[in-house]
Amino acid sequence: MSLSRHRWPGELGRRGFGFGADYNPEQWPAAVWREDVRLMREAGVNIVSVGVFAWAQLQPGPDTWDFADLDEVMDLLHGAGIAVDLATATASPPPWLTSAHPEILPVDEQGRTVWPGGRQHWRPTSPVFRAHALALVEALATRYARHPALAAWHVSNELGCHNVHDYSDDAARAFRVWLRRRYGDLDTLNRAWCTAFWAQRFGDWAQILPPRLAATCPNPTQRLDFARFSSDALKEHLRAEREVLRRITPDVPVTTNFMVMGETSGMNYAGWAGEVDFVANDHYARPGPRRLDELSFSANLTGNLAGGRPWFLMEHATSAVNWQPVNRAKRPGELARDALTHVAHGADAVCFFQWRQSTGGAERYHSAMVPHAGPDSAVFAGVVELGRTLEGLAEVVGARRRPAPVAILFDWESWWLAEQEFSPTSLLRYRREALDWYGALLDLGMRADVLPVAAPLDGYRLVVAPVLHMVPGPLAARLRAYVAGGGHLVTTYFSGIVDEHAHVHPGGYPGALRELLGIRIEEFDPLPDDEQVTVTLADGPALIDTGLTGAELTGTLWTDRIELADAGVEVLARFTSGEQAGRPAVTRLAHGPGSAGYVSPRLGTAGLAVLLGPLLSSAGVTGELPPEACGRVELVVRGHSGHDYRFLVNRTDGPVELAAPGELLLGRATGSEGGVRLDPRGVAVLRHPVGARLRSGDHPRSRLAAPGLD
Ligand code: GLA
Repeated sequence: MSLSRHRWPGELGRRGFGFGADYNPEQWPAAVWREDVRLMREAGVNIVSVGVFAWAQLQPGPDTWDFADLDEVMDLLHGAGIAVDLATATASPPPWLTSAHPEILPVDEQGRTVWPGGRQHWRPTSPVFRAHALALVEALATRYARHPALAAWHVSNELGCHNVHDYSDDAARAFRVWLRRRYGDLDTLNRAWCTAFWAQRFGDWAQILPPRLAATCPNPTQRLDFARFSSDALKEHLRAEREVLRRITPDVPVTTNFMVMGETSGMNYAGWAGEVDFVANDHYARPGPRRLDELSFSANLTGNLAGGRPWFLMEHATSAVNWQPVNRAKRPGELARDALTHVAHGADAVCFFQWRQSTGGAERYHSAMVPHAGPDSAVFAGVVELGRTLEGLAEVVGARRRPAPVAILFDWESWWLAEQEFSPTSLLRYRREALDWYGALLDLGMRADVLPVAAPLDGYRLVVAPVLHMVPGPLAARLRAYVAGGGHLVTTYFSGIVDEHAHVHPGGYPGALRELLGIRIEEFDPLPDDEQVTVTLADGPALIDTGLTGAELTGTLWTDRIELADAGVEVLARFTSGEQAGRPAVTRLAHGPGSAGYVSPRLGTAGLAVLLGPLLSSAGVTGELPPEACGRVELVVRGHSGHDYRFLVNRTDGPVELAAPGELLLGRATGSEGGVRLDPRGVAVLRHPVGARLRSGDHPRSRLAAPGLD
C-alpha cells in the first residue's frame, strides 16, 4: 500500500492548492480557447488535465499524427501560467483502430462484443490495443518532454470504469498466465478452486476460462481470482504506460485517476497506490440523506490509500451530473463544502469535470466550471469564490492527515466475496455496512480513519471491521496481535468466515476470529427484507452507568445463533424478538486491556450510534467536538510544520455555532471568546499549535436518536 515515491506536479506544491478541471479544447474552436484561458485566470485555475479523450484528434489514422492544436493549447496555457496534467489520451480508442482491429473490443460474460459508440471499449489484455496505446504514449511523451507546461502525466482515465471485466479470449489467455504465476501447478489450483465440487477438475491449463455465462453459479474461487486478475490486468496497463513515461520523462510525476466512490468495486486500489507518484481520485456525490457521509468516507479512504500524504482530487462536479435517474443541481454552499471536505481529508488539488460544459455529446447535461449559461452564472461565481478560498488556505498545502483514534477496515476482496451469489443472503451490501459505522461515528462527532485492511493498526484505540468476510491466517494473526497489544476490535456478522481461497474456516463461525471473539456460531440465520428483530442492551459491566441498559435497537438483515464458547464473554445486547430471542446479539471478550467484540445483526447508523457510545468509552476514546457540534459538524485534522489545521464541516442546512479555539483561516468568529459560526453548509478552518486539544475531551455519549440527520 505504501507509495514507492511521492512526487507532486511541478511547481504546484509551492504555489498553493492545485485548482482546475478536465479541459477538452478539441470540442471548441480556437477562439473559445482564448476566452477559456482568460476565465481560468479569473477563477484562479492553475492546472488542467488536457487530452483525456483526444486520441482521434492526435492520431487521425494509423500513420498520421496531428499535434498542432495540442501544441497551441499547451503554449497558450503555459503563457497564462497554467500547468498541464497531460493525459496519455488512451482512454478511448478511435474508430480507425476499432475498425482495423475489432479484436481489441471487450466481450461481456455472455459473449457479446462491446461495440464502439461509448468510450473505453478496449480489452485491458489485448496485445494489439497495448501496442497502439504505447505508441501514442511514446509519441506524446517524446513531443512534450520538455514543454514547460507539462507538470504531470495522467495515464488513461478512470481505468476500469467501463471495461474492468472482459471475458474475451485475450482475457482467457492472460488469466491463465496470471493463474500459473499464482498457483504454479494445476493440482494447487484445483485444490484452491475446490474443483472436486461439480466435476470441475482441470487437467490442462487450456481448459480454464473466465467465469463466462454458466448454467448456474460459477465457481466462487474462480470468480474471486477473476476479480483479482481483472484489477491486476488494469494495473498492468497502468504500469506499461508509466514505464514509457518514466523512460522518456523521468522527472515528471505520473498518476491515474482512481474511482474511490459509491459502488465502484472492481479495482482493488489498495494495491494501486504504490504504482503512482501521487494518488488521484474522482468523486461524484450520490444523492440522498447520507450524501455527505459517503463523500467524506471516500475522501477519507483515498487519503489513507495515499498513506496520509496529500492527494489530488482529479474530478468532481460543480453541480449536477448527468448519469443518475434524476440529476439534481447542487444547493447553495454545496460546491464549496464538497470541495473543502476533500481538502480536509488531504486533497491538495481540487479539480472538476470539466472546464466548459459541452453543448453536444453524451455529457452535455453534466455541470462544469463554465456552464451553458456562461460565466455570468451562480456556478461560475461559486467557482471563482472557491478559487479565492483555496488561495487563502495555501499554508495548509502539504499538511498530512492526522490519524484518528478509531479505524474502520475496508477490504475490496471481502467486498467482492460477501456480495457473490449463492451466499446466505443476497441483500448484503458490503460498502453500506462500512458506511453505517462511519456515519454513526460522524453522528457522534468522532473522527475515524477508513483504512485499507493491510494498513498498520498501531495507535488506534478502536478498530471496526465490518463484514470482514475474508480473513486469511496472517490477517487473523495481525488482529490477534492488535488485541493482545491492548487494542479494541469490533467485527460484525459474516466476518472471519473464509480464507484467501474463499474456503470456509471449519469448526464453527466466525472461523478465523472464533477464538478471539470467544463465540461459536453453528448456523447463520439471515432475515428477509420484511423482517426485523429487536435487540435490547443488557446490564453487564460495560453498560453499567451508561443509562443504556434496556435500550431497544432494531436489527435487520442478519441474525446468528451465538453460543458463548469462552466463559469470559460479556453479552452487551440480546435479541428480544424473533427466532433468536433470548440469545446474544452483541458480545465482547476482554483480552487483558484489549477486547474483541461481535455485532450480529445489521443495526444501521442510528443503532450503531447508540452502541458505539459504550464501545468508544471502554476503548478510552474521548470526543474532540463540543456537545453542541456533535453530529452537526465533521471534524478533520491535517498538520505540518508545527501546526494542526482543524477543518469544521457543517453537515446541516442551518447555521451552527460552536466553541472552537484557534486562529481562523476560514470562517467567522462569533462575538464570544473562541466561538465559531458556521454558515449553513459552511466550512471553517482553524490553525493550532500541534497537539492542542479542541476541548478537554470527555467520552462521547450514545445517541438514542440522531435528530435531523437520518
Ligand atoms: C468520469 C469521467 C469523466 C466524466 C465524468 C462525468 O469521472 O472520468 O470523463 O465522464 O465521469 O461524471
